[in-house]
Amino acid sequence: MKKHAFALGGAGLMLGVSLMAISAQELTGELPDPPEFAAQSEPVFVSVGDMLEFKALPEYHEPDWVTSKYVEAGTLPPVAERLPKEPLVFKTGNMPDGIGVYGDTMRHVIGGRPEGWNYIGGQSQGWGGIDIGLSECLTRNGPLFQIKAEELEPLPNLAKSWEWSEDGHELTMHLIEGAKWSDGDPFDSEDLMFYWEDNVNDPNVSAVPSGTGTPERFGVGTTLEAIDEYTVKWTFEEVRPTQYLYAMAYDSFCPGPSHILKPQHPKYNPDNTYQEYKNAFPPEFMNMPVMGAWVPVEYRADDIIVMRRNPYYWKVDENGNQLPYLNEMHYRLSTWADRDVQAVAGSGDFANLEQAESFVESLKRSAEDSAPARLQFGARTIGYALRMNLSANGWGEPDARGQAVRELNRELDFRKAVSIAVDRQRLGDSLVRGPFTAIYPGGLYAGTTYYDKASTVYYPYNLEAANALLDGLGLTDTDGNGIRNFPADKAGGADVEITLLANTDYGTDTNLAEGVIAMMEPLGIRVIANFQTGTARDDMAQSGQFDWGVERQGAEMVSVVQGTTTLAPVGPRTHTFHKAGTDGTVDLLPFEQELVDVVNKFIASSDTTERAELMKQYQKLFTENVYSVGLTQYPGALIINKRFANIPAGAPIFQFNWAEDSVMRERLFVPEDKQGDYELHPETLPGEPGGAGPV
Ligand code: GLA
Repeated sequence: MKKHAFALGGAGLMLGVSLMAISAQELTGELPDPPEFAAQSEPVFVSVGDMLEFKALPEYHEPDWVTSKYVEAGTLPPVAERLPKEPLVFKTGNMPDGIGVYGDTMRHVIGGRPEGWNYIGGQSQGWGGIDIGLSECLTRNGPLFQIKAEELEPLPNLAKSWEWSEDGHELTMHLIEGAKWSDGDPFDSEDLMFYWEDNVNDPNVSAVPSGTGTPERFGVGTTLEAIDEYTVKWTFEEVRPTQYLYAMAYDSFCPGPSHILKPQHPKYNPDNTYQEYKNAFPPEFMNMPVMGAWVPVEYRADDIIVMRRNPYYWKVDENGNQLPYLNEMHYRLSTWADRDVQAVAGSGDFANLEQAESFVESLKRSAEDSAPARLQFGARTIGYALRMNLSANGWGEPDARGQAVRELNRELDFRKAVSIAVDRQRLGDSLVRGPFTAIYPGGLYAGTTYYDKASTVYYPYNLEAANALLDGLGLTDTDGNGIRNFPADKAGGADVEITLLANTDYGTDTNLAEGVIAMMEPLGIRVIANFQTGTARDDMAQSGQFDWGVERQGAEMVSVVQGTTTLAPVGPRTHTFHKAGTDGTVDLLPFEQELVDVVNKFIASSDTTERAELMKQYQKLFTENVYSVGLTQYPGALIINKRFANIPAGAPIFQFNWAEDSVMRERLFVPEDKQGDYELHPETLPGEPGGAGPV
């Protein structure tokens, strides 16, 4: 194994400090404030009604070539017939550069690879905004960064409006009426019910690639029923849990095309296995019907995915121009690091600059006047933690060694020892020097709405005390090889060896993981890298096949309102590193039960003061108990080529969702005099599902 720069040489156990000497109090320390780092632009805060509304307009328009080549040729109905009764209308006043013009391409570069197009069945398309662009969801969160705080509520999207029953248990949602999938098939409540009943609630399906499509994401005991084609009714055990409206956005309630998927699902097609259902639409299957603005029309393995405009897209501008303005989307299948390089150089158009190792170089090049892209830093919302598998009742089916590790993971003194053996300052500096990284004790990120420093318990770096804590747990080096051993009755008293799962698609993930591995050496713990590419890592993490993992965390740590049910194991499959074991229950530690109670109260409450108070309790419980070992947090920068117009001010790369959602790509455009010649399939539209490509 490669020795990391952090290795201190040998694994000498420091046994000098007796356990008596280290009370919890003595381990805590003053948390330094993050270095000053101002976000480079602020959003213009508006109300939802300033951004969009649903209404019929007197006339509609489309690119001229669509009319002449398709509508006039009789192969496509006129635009007014393709649009819903009341399309979603983006208000001009909220569009920074106003009404746009048609044309051009956004050239994305992504590091992931598509497994196939069955998104709701759990297949990943490779991330980087590709699935965000294909899937439209009941509500929408990304653009909320510009909604006034006191009016914060998910944006309507496929659900154009909703109302609560008087007793607050029922939520009736009205779907957009007369909208169509990109192949012209009607979108209606059948699509929702197929997603809910046969994916979310079918235990054989791990719905959506992140695995968050579980019933409890919407509350234990929640039901959904179709009232008619365009009306559905939710029933909740809680009273008015408006919180679940956030879960109805990306990525947990974005229905798939039931007319194509249903015939492959084992319930409707007994000849198919669940695996066959999941894999029924491989990357080569072109023209997969979507509700998103662009449809996949070309795929070349390890090269590119090309998408063309969806002729049935159901959003327009105030002049009645059918969106999107951009005719084509590219997703170059490369690496995440290459995304930054290409965006800065101008051969790509978009990057979330999130790997701290590339900050300095990217900043330098973007500062030049001739730089093709603008680079804008936001708040510190990128954070990494070391997460331990806390299930001791079989999740992921560990062997004897794995089981012994999980039992250790469940010991507070063990988690504390690991936490204080991490020199966070050095870890952050090893990625990038300067005012970027901040010491991150775990829990909510400093600088976000619900963060409270006074409720944050920080255990600073203290190697000696870390070793003493491990001594206290009876982990001694019985065979003198420099590695502590499990007690004789655990894993046969073998060396304490722990595997660390990390994602090789990102340099930052593996750099941090290597840092952690090296920092565990002086503790006499052998940590073995289990480095996997993104999809394999995700599958292993979701199925509990890991001891430890170093991971970039989700939006719940930033916004709290997004992914709330992932904050604690409120249901059997809602949490990231503690899911139900073989008997279907989660073996909660006492403090986890408290976390669950706090999160459930948060979900059930709409009282701002109470919610803030609850999140203070959450932060305290989390950090005091080292629920996960925070590593570092830092800001990210949005890089977009300068030729694009309508980029909202202050768009963060990650807040309520990734920037690919927040910037609202369907209303971005390129002014005519700046348009490039990048379209690979000019003047074509997507063809038949499964067909060869555009026509
Ligand atoms: C990946 C990238 C992020 C973002 C998301 C979108 O995770 O690392 O920057 O593009 O995909 O899903």
